[in-house]
Amino acid sequence: MVKSLETSDPQLLKPGIKAPVQETLLTPRFYTTDFEAVANWEISANETELQAVVQELRADYNRHHFVRDEEFQQGWDHVDGEKRQAFIDFLERSCTSEFSGFLLFKELSRRLKAKNPLLADAFNYMARDEARHAGFLNKSMADFNLSLDLSYLTKHRTYTFFPPEWVIYTVYLSEKIGYWRYILIHRHIQKHPEYQFYPLFRKFESWCQDENRHGDFFKALLRSQPKLWNNWKARLWVRFFLLTVFVTHTVTVFERAMFYQAIGIHPRKYNNSVIQETNNTSARAFPIILDTNHPAFFWRLEQCFIHTQRLTEIKESRGFSLVKFWQKIPPICGIIYHMLRLYLIKPIDAESIRATVR
Ligand SMILES: [Fe+2]
Ligand SMILES: [Fe+2]
Repeated sequence: MVKSLETSDPQLLKPGIKAPVQETLLTPRFYTTDFEAVANWEISANETELQAVVQELRADYNRHHFVRDEEFQQGWDHVDGEKRQAFIDFLERSCTSEFSGFLLFKELSRRLKAKNPLLADAFNYMARDEARHAGFLNKSMADFNLSLDLSYLTKHRTYTFFPPEWVIYTVYLSEKIGYWRYILIHRHIQKHPEYQFYPLFRKFESWCQDENRHGDFFKALLRSQPKLWNNWKARLWVRFFLLTVFVTHTVTVFERAMFYQAIGIHPRKYNNSVIQETNNTSARAFPIILDTNHPAFFWRLEQCFIHTQRLTEIKESRGFSLVKFWQKIPPICGIIYHMLRLYLIKPIDAESIRATVR
């Protein structure tokens, strides 16, 4: 069974302001890209669909949704111990990831304004949504006497350069996986209101529709660029990004098993559902999807988690760095081996099944 992430008192930058967690491969990333290349993209092949999504974004259906109503106006000291730490960790990770989206979309909007006003508008609307999401989560953190200094985060985080194609694949997937993560928690809490220890989960239904629309925009953008889906290279990249997003998701869910258990969710069932739904949804955008029904699929994802746990144990153990270096080799090889075996599972051709999926 899964082991939950060790939780300790949070490190503070100053009173009430939480120091960001140490950056690892699993913490939400801050991206930068070749803005000039995106500005020069020819989008006419799918302009009608792009126009329709931008229209939806412009409508701003959630402008009155992110209000901290009276349910928030109370003390939260009764949420304590491991549950409190696990929830703060969930809030921080979600806030960082929303804020990272805001920064990327804002910059894209600014840099595309002159050459590609339609895309610039879309990125501006999505930046508006992500700023609301990050702000709402940060206020929730403040209810637990902590918050993130977002301007500190802007200046001190490492920005990872991704070519525009990789940005489209990863952000599309993160929007769609974000949608499924929020909606599945929301549906569960609706069925089991006894687990709603904090009113944030009630907000997820409309909130996740924002993520769904963002994903739809990226899907329309991706389909406007045939080189991103109609050749063998694109199929190999799509397979790679689906796999890395699913491995990362599995590791983060299993590491934070305590949080899911606190809201009555079975981490393994939740992880499998999020991955299956995201994989099925991405058949609308990608030329191939992964075969999540392969008998070894989820087992190998969990093997990746077990090896990452071993890496964490080695990292946190006392000992000489040279010894640790050698100790890390078997789990690293284990992760590479299982990811390779997963990568080699025959994918499903999405182009031929597109008409039948959601
Ligand atoms: Fe968001
Ligand atoms: Fe989003």
